[in-house]
Amino acid sequence: SLGSPLFLEVGPGQTLTRLAHLSTRAHSNALVLSSMRHPQEDADDVRVLLASLGRAWLSGAPISWDAVHPTPPRRVLLPTYPYERQRFWVEPGRASLSSLADPLRKQPHVADWFYLPSWKRSLPPRAASSSPRRCLVFLDALGLASSLVSRLEALGHSVFTVSPGSEYQRSGPRSFTLNPALGGDYERLLTALQVQEQPLDTVVHCWSVTADERAARDEREHFEHTQERGYYSLLFLAHALDTLGGHTPLRIEVVSNRLCDITALEPAQPEKATLLGPCKVIPQEYAHLASRCIDIVLPEGGVSPSSALVGQLVAELEADAADPVVAYRGNQRWVQAYEQLRLEAAALPGPTLRQHGMYLITGGLGGVGLLLAEHLARTVQARLVLVGRTGLPSREHWPEWLSQHPSEDPTCQRIRKVQELEALGAEVLVLSADVAHLDAMRAALAQATGRFGPLHGVIHAAGITHGTSIFSPLRDVGRPESELQFQPKAHGLYVLDTLLRDSALDFCVLLSSNASVLGGLGFVAYSAANLFVDAFAARQNKRGGTPWISTNWDGWQVQQPEPRAQVRTSMDRYTMTAPEALDAFQRILTRGLGCGQLVVSTGDLQARLALWLQRDAALPGTAEAAASAPHARPHLKTPYAAPATPIEKELALIWQELLGVEQVGLHDNFFELGGHSLLGTRVASRLREVFQVTLPLRSLFQSPTVGQLATLVEEHLAEQVDPEALAELEQLSPDELKALLDAGT
Ligand SMILES: NC(=O)c1ccc[n+]([C@@H]2O[C@H](COP(=O)([O-])OP(=O)(O)OC[C@H]3O[C@@H](n4cnc5c(N)ncnc54)[C@H](OP(=O)(O)O)[C@@H]3O)[C@@H](O)[C@H]2O)c1
Repeated sequence: SLGSPLFLEVGPGQTLTRLAHLSTRAHSNALVLSSMRHPQEDADDVRVLLASLGRAWLSGAPISWDAVHPTPPRRVLLPTYPYERQRFWVEPGRASLSSLADPLRKQPHVADWFYLPSWKRSLPPRAASSSPRRCLVFLDALGLASSLVSRLEALGHSVFTVSPGSEYQRSGPRSFTLNPALGGDYERLLTALQVQEQPLDTVVHCWSVTADERAARDEREHFEHTQERGYYSLLFLAHALDTLGGHTPLRIEVVSNRLCDITALEPAQPEKATLLGPCKVIPQEYAHLASRCIDIVLPEGGVSPSSALVGQLVAELEADAADPVVAYRGNQRWVQAYEQLRLEAAALPGPTLRQHGMYLITGGLGGVGLLLAEHLARTVQARLVLVGRTGLPSREHWPEWLSQHPSEDPTCQRIRKVQELEALGAEVLVLSADVAHLDAMRAALAQATGRFGPLHGVIHAAGITHGTSIFSPLRDVGRPESELQFQPKAHGLYVLDTLLRDSALDFCVLLSSNASVLGGLGFVAYSAANLFVDAFAARQNKRGGTPWISTNWDGWQVQQPEPRAQVRTSMDRYTMTAPEALDAFQRILTRGLGCGQLVVSTGDLQARLALWLQRDAALPGTAEAAASAPHARPHLKTPYAAPATPIEKELALIWQELLGVEQVGLHDNFFELGGHSLLGTRVASRLREVFQVTLPLRSLFQSPTVGQLATLVEEHLAEQVDPEALAELEQLSPDELKALLDAGT
């Protein structure tokens, strides 16, 4: 609302400048300046102050020049223009959309942020070279993969197979069993295959091709069983590949049925949707791995899969299609798409919200939950039920709590927020319950309807947004982390469905994330959990009655717990301010209900999909684009300093190549040079190749300059040195050492 605000930090240090930067990131017109240098910066104080003064003046700020120059200023001659002779020629054929505007920028109009997931017909894939492959096929119980294996072998490919069993076993020269629940079994399998002559180049994972088993198990058991054959199987496979190292390109082709909801031929099972999480995230975290999913329909009544279906799969496996999700329905090939919708603003509060309506918000005391509660309080003076596991002290203890705790105490902040909601005309009931526990939620709902009467709408915002299950590299995400994510997003939805099945509500809005659409580094479990939310809402919405909708969001500008605040991600540029997000939310309520799922992407979703899922080399920001059009080092805050040590030089070369910058200096910041987390994974994998050190991606966020990263690499290399070998080396004469080096030992 400030237009083009200017913030000036007055006093030593730059802490407030950084905080202001964080809060105004979405505000491209905001200018944030500090008046003094950073304590660790080696710069002249007067120079820093004058530079800030100059930038303030350039932005139009009124400067009191009399105060700056008590004596009248005099004119000086400026040096003439230095002709630096740098070429900025636009090469013919390179006038791509990237040169016109950054296709990955945040779009200015909220109306342009909405996308409807859909499917579109596509031509069969173009055949690539059919050189013999070395495949590992995960056999399903229905015979599809066995038919596929016969066809692949007939075509001259070398095939190994693995079936689920009670323990790891080599059951034949080319066949294995493993226990899907044991991550270690995957490692044993890959180790056994590694000793064979050639590395694998293709995995065909068919364990998610199943008969309809829902009736045979209860929901929780069915969910768990489906994860074991799908999501966890892919996760453990990726762990094993990570542990065994190796950088040979490998494609993981995941074949499933009942995953995609395209025609009425076969209803989708939301439990299977989670496997798309690893499918999207594995290639993002490991540059040498590719992965995608092919969904099929099996013939009814246990009939063997048709030769045509097996032929379609072979054609897919032999092609080089980049479509991350493909589905076959009969002879038709479909690919997943997202259609942009314009949702114009509707007059507030719109037809869907009722004056004094009664609304349940799960995760209601969280950042987003409280913003939505405020929106409902402000617009319709709602009766609000806010549910979370933690809850608040009982009301009579609030004054005491407020007086005895500092204002930054989270409980104090939540109590004050509830008081603000009530001051806006809302009635608020805060209840403590785990949304994944049926009895607790039944009791909470009974208490809520007992106090406020019938329920009119539900917003499911319960979710885990910090801790080890999110922003963690895939290798650190196992069953406990995944279960944490699945509790509110999967088991919580089963509970809500059970409790609300007989109620006719105005809406049931689920808060999902764009991580389910785009994946994202460190998001494997979060993405999977949100994929379940999307698929569950789509299924519920198809049943009629209460409109269910899953809404996929970019970041909301809400207060984040400390550790998250330190992590910069490529998603940050898409963060919505609170008014923008509430505007989008209101547009969905008034215009978008009935869709089942709506994606809210503040950046052009097609460009983001092309970058994140299809790795479109024509987009700015990809290593391929950078390599084909290197540019001069931009003007940075730090002057150029040449890398000196061999490690620094090698690192600078890697950055130059991946970022497309002609010269990278020792103190240049990866992110200021245009780096983002997807390129960060490329850096991490090059470090593995070149130095044989494995650094988590977060190292790059914590040590973002060549110099800092080189120190980290040196520390890791030092840890790997065998002290005995070092002692032996120390005994050698310079000539002996030189002879060893010349021999490359
Ligand atoms: N913030 C964003 O930028 C963003 C972006 C896209 C999507 N989303 C989605 O929006 C939702 C809200 O995000 P947020 O930023 O508000 O997160 P948040 O501040 O962490 O709040 C989430 C709330 O959910 C509650 N919760 C977690 N597990 C629960 C369970 N089993 N039963 C009941 N309550 C539970 C937590 O309270 P207790 O721990 O006390 O239970 C917490 O108050 C999440 O689902 C998230 O995935 C957020």
